[in-house]
Amino acid sequence: MAIPLLDLKSQYESLKAELDGVWSDTMSSAGFIGGPKVKALEAAIAEYCGTKHCVACGNGTDALFLILGALGIGKGDEVITTPFTFFATAESIAHVGATPVFVDIEPGTYNLDVSKIEAAITPATKAIMPVHIFGQCVDMDALNAIAEKHGLVVIEDACQAIGATYKGRPAGSLGRAAAFSFFPSKNLGCAGDGGCITTDDDELAAAARKMAAHGTSKKYYHDAIGVNSRLDALQAGVLLVKLPHLDEWNGQRRAAATVYNELLAGAEGLELPVERDYGEMVYHLYIVKSASADKIMAALSAEGIGTALYYPLSLHEQAAFTEREGYTRPTLPSAESCDGSTFALPCFPGITQAQQEEVVRVVLSALG
Ligand SMILES: Cc1ncc(COP(=O)(O)O)c(C=O)c1O
Repeated sequence: MAIPLLDLKSQYESLKAELDGVWSDTMSSAGFIGGPKVKALEAAIAEYCGTKHCVACGNGTDALFLILGALGIGKGDEVITTPFTFFATAESIAHVGATPVFVDIEPGTYNLDVSKIEAAITPATKAIMPVHIFGQCVDMDALNAIAEKHGLVVIEDACQAIGATYKGRPAGSLGRAAAFSFFPSKNLGCAGDGGCITTDDDELAAAARKMAAHGTSKKYYHDAIGVNSRLDALQAGVLLVKLPHLDEWNGQRRAAATVYNELLAGAEGLELPVERDYGEMVYHLYIVKSASADKIMAALSAEGIGTALYYPLSLHEQAAFTEREGYTRPTLPSAESCDGSTFALPCFPGITQAQQEEVVRVVLSALG
C-alpha cells in the first residue's frame, strides 16, 4: 500500500471550493500584493498566537532574518542556537553577519539542551534562537530565565510549531519575537512560500515591517537598506481558508502519533519521540531514531511508503560552516548521534489506522 509522507492532495480536495474561490477572487480583483487579505491574515495570526503584532513576509527564513535585522544584531555578535534544525535557522544568523554558536540537543525531544546554554555565553552573545523542532516547544521558562540573567534576546524559530503550546501558552508568544513558515508542508501551509513574525514589541514590529519593504515607511522614501519580502494576497487568502482547521488538523496529528506510540512501543532498536509534559506537541514530523535507519527506510521506500531523514547532517558539521575561516567545530555528541539515524514516518491529518498499521508492519519486519 503506497502511503505518502504527507498528503496535501486530500487536504485540497476537502477545501476545494473555498481554495478555488481564493484563486478566482484574487484574479478578478487583480489585487495581488498586500491589501485586505494580508491584513486579515496578520490580525488572525496575532490573535491565534496571542501577540500584539503579526508581520507577514515572504517565508520563514526571511522572518528570522528580519527579526535579527530589526534587533540590530550583526557583525561581531553571537547567537546561540541548535545544530539540529533546517539550515535556514543558522543561515539567517550568518546572513546578518553574526556568528551562530551551536549548543547540543536533548535526546528524545531533539530540542536545544537548555542546561548547556550558559556555558556557551560569551561577552559577544546577543541572542538565543531556540527552534521548536518537529512541533514541540523548547523548555522556554528555563531558557528565558537564562536569557534574562544575561540580558539576551530570545527569538523563537517557530517555523515547525504553529499551534504548539508551552504551559498553555502558544508558540510564537514565548520570546521577544518569533518566526513562522507557511511552506506548503508545514502544519499551516500556503500554496508556495510564505512566512510571518509575531511579537508584542511595537518597535521591533515596525522595524521588521520597514525592513521587509525596502527600508521604507513612506512610499518612495527610504531611511534604511532593506529587502523585498512580501506575502502575496493569494497566499494570505489560502491561509485564511486553512487557519480555522489548524487545531483540528493538529489534533489529528497528535492522535496519529499516539497510535504509532502504541503500535511501536517496545520495538527493539527503535527510539520513539519523547513528548514533554509541559506542553502540547503538534507533530510537524513524527521522528524515530535507529541504528538501522538505512535498512528500515529502504524497506519503507520499497513498499512506496514515504520517509526521509531529518536531518542527515547536523548544522555544525555542514561545509557552509566548517569551511568558513576561523570556524572551530564544536563536538556535540547528542546531535551527531542523530546524523543518518533519525527519520520521519508518515504522520498527517487524515492518515488512517490501516495506513499506520501498514507502516508499522514494514518497520517491524525491517528491524527483524
Ligand atoms: C526550523 C525551520 N526554520 C526555518 C525554516 C525556513 O522557512 P522557509 O522555508 O519558509 O523559509 C524552516 C522551513 O523549512 C524550518 O523548518
